[in-house]
Amino acid sequence: MPTVVRTAAELRAATSGTVALVPTMGALHDGHGSLMEHARPLAETLVVSIFVNPTQFAPEEDLDAYPRTFEADLERCDAAGVDVVFAPTVEEMYPHGLDGAIMVDPGPLGSILEGAARPTHFRGVLTVVAKLFGLVRPDVAVFGEKDYQQLTLIRLMAQELCLGVDVVGCPTVREADGLAMSSRNRYLTASERERAAAISAALRAGVDAGPDGPEAVLHAAGKVLADAGIDPDYLVLTSPDLGPAEAGRESRLLVAARVGRPRLLDNCAVPLGADAKNRGK
Ligand code: PAF
Repeated sequence: MPTVVRTAAELRAATSGTVALVPTMGALHDGHGSLMEHARPLAETLVVSIFVNPTQFAPEEDLDAYPRTFEADLERCDAAGVDVVFAPTVEEMYPHGLDGAIMVDPGPLGSILEGAARPTHFRGVLTVVAKLFGLVRPDVAVFGEKDYQQLTLIRLMAQELCLGVDVVGCPTVREADGLAMSSRNRYLTASERERAAAISAALRAGVDAGPDGPEAVLHAAGKVLADAGIDPDYLVLTSPDLGPAEAGRESRLLVAARVGRPRLLDNCAVPLGADAKNRGK
């Protein structure tokens, strides 16, 4: 079993050599499993943090209802060869309290897409990730591409604040029908679960339309969602760094949609126009 540590002092004593970090909020599933697998060979010590971070939840979002499955999480970490699980208390992470603490400003990229729906979310995410980087001092940290805007912002923060951490993104792990794995999927009813498969199907339709350009991509993806009765919060095509998509280049198609109670996110790379045609050769 991994060594479980709760404090910064215990963490320091438990880590040595090069360190890889996989930050999580627990409720681990196969998506996290693949992050751990990816991270394992990257360093001598593999640390997984399990911390449900209060500052990334808005007051109306139910922090207490977030799934907590610590014993099962430990088993999963053990199977993945994790050395250390860092599971701090809120007091350990926010010793000066949640109000008035110094917080990281995510800048303009933090207020679009997910940030438009959840205005304080990325401030909380970047703050806790910066703290985890400071506590764990990893050489490399691994995040899933499923939360693409989060990954983009964390990469940017590591560069802009010169944190000296190599931020690595890992491909999204999917169920057999394409649904991106997420701890939120457990809240789907059987019929919603079936309908939710249309989200990844929409992305695939968008990729297929890539050779015909950005409008065709959005049209094709939007049609698959509409046919499944899903009205997305957003369906956008951007550049890989979330700027405007450019014809003839690689782009990113991102979608967020509520299916029943959970709000589901997904995204994928879409080669556009000439770029897509050249790859097809
Ligand atoms: O993606 C998550 O699970 C969380 O946002 C993270 C990165 C662990 C920060 O709390």
